[in-house]
Amino acid sequence: MSAEVTRRHLLRSLGAAGGAGVMFEAMRALGVAGTAEAETANYQAPKRGDFITTGRVAPRVVILGAGVAGLATAYELGKAGYQCTILEAKGRVGGRNWTVREGTAETDLDGHSQYSRFAPGQYFNAGPARIAQSHVTLDYCRELGVPVEAFVNQNANAYVYNQNMPAPTRFRTAKADMYGYVSELLSKALDQGALDQRVSAVDKDRLLTFLSDWGAVGPKADGYAYRGTDRRGYVVPPGAGEEAGTPLGAPDAISDVLARQVGRNFSFEFGYDQAMMMMQPVGGMDAIPRALVDAVGAGNLRLGAKVTRVADRATGVDVVFSDRYGVEYLIQAEFCVSTLPPHVMARVPTNLDPRVGAALRYPVALPVGKLGLEQRRRWWETDLRIYGGITATDLDIVQIWYPSSGFHTQRGVLLGYYNVGPDALTYSALTPAQRIDRALTQGERVHGPTYRAEYASGFSVAWHRTPHLEAGWVEWPSRTSGEYALLNSPAGHVYFAGDWLTYEIAWQAGAFASARRAVTAIHQRVMAS
Ligand code: ALA
Repeated sequence: MSAEVTRRHLLRSLGAAGGAGVMFEAMRALGVAGTAEAETANYQAPKRGDFITTGRVAPRVVILGAGVAGLATAYELGKAGYQCTILEAKGRVGGRNWTVREGTAETDLDGHSQYSRFAPGQYFNAGPARIAQSHVTLDYCRELGVPVEAFVNQNANAYVYNQNMPAPTRFRTAKADMYGYVSELLSKALDQGALDQRVSAVDKDRLLTFLSDWGAVGPKADGYAYRGTDRRGYVVPPGAGEEAGTPLGAPDAISDVLARQVGRNFSFEFGYDQAMMMMQPVGGMDAIPRALVDAVGAGNLRLGAKVTRVADRATGVDVVFSDRYGVEYLIQAEFCVSTLPPHVMARVPTNLDPRVGAALRYPVALPVGKLGLEQRRRWWETDLRIYGGITATDLDIVQIWYPSSGFHTQRGVLLGYYNVGPDALTYSALTPAQRIDRALTQGERVHGPTYRAEYASGFSVAWHRTPHLEAGWVEWPSRTSGEYALLNSPAGHVYFAGDWLTYEIAWQAGAFASARRAVTAIHQRVMAS
């Protein structure tokens, strides 16, 4: 028996003898259940007792960058009493975890200055904006007391809009039609024996039963025809008394549905990381870095501190930084953890092996843009019955997000674009005012003149043009050509951490996981010394 068969056999017999509870415990032990718990169970934070019981002194550590990875490194090392100093070049913490509110100001690398005129209480998460249930980020929210709420990543009432459509289509309608036609065609093919080589008679029956339900197709006598049901939606919704509702009616012909590519975006919600439920901190994503700073102690943090040199020495590290007036300081520590983006760290003069510098230049920095559009009135709720979620378009704005908080209040901030690559470059080439104007024009194609009429104020971010960050995230052309492994190992007393060193790039979970990895490596080294 193969290992896989043995394992399945074991689980089945446990299920039969001990019930689901026993089976689940066994699955957990085998590592096939409870991924989030498995992830956290594997990590052991350093403890104060580790130093007390062994008589060692907790070392000093300089951490470069007060984004999630840097703050989490300080937080975890702090649990054992390591003396951490965090150097942050920007005037704020959080890195890409950035919530734009009333009064937020930023000047980009092209000299565009923006000042947010959002009304009090309005905000938009310009960086990370959603957390998957499996992500360790939620464990940190729990541990740090950051309240979370649901984030609506998929909404049947939101739209699909492709430029070749006469009008935007609700996701519920798009799904009803695609599932319906796929079910009709597959049912016909099965019925005509086209797949008899592949499925047994019993399986065929089972599949036909599934398709009848999934696609809401007619019976065999009707040729399994998809004719549309109320799943498509209503013109007049069902109501009291004689009001049975007026359904949207028959679907368009299959060739029209296919030509309009209404299913173009369906796979998004199947993504391991993107599936509903998703979560967000109440009041803005920046609650996470704020809670980390509270835990670490603001006194261990230097803002406006730009690293100008890192030198690995025989017994530790020298780090030189300049403050906002250009005055240089030297910090000496046993270890340094750099959480700067690789392309930014690559420009810091060091005495490290030149292969480290080359490896830092290897990942490709991606352009990413987001725009928050404050609206005076939540017309998407009142007029369109859209409560959170995302409209997917083939325009250069790519998406429109409806806020997942503040339902039924007066104002709200829509996400007016979220683009990666060439579309992000299109927008970053514009002034902030031009970006808003272009995004409003595109949004009007989906939502009509209300989109511009109710616009109150906007704030955009071009992450690739944001000082000290210079990318939305990075991509590795290869993870097996040596660079990834090299940077996941210490360079003398210098360690690297960040989402870019994980398989969870562009997620805070990656930043946390990488911080834990660096912390574990440092602590094991210290305990072994
Ligand atoms: N994690 C990023 C997002 O969810 C890519 O948009």
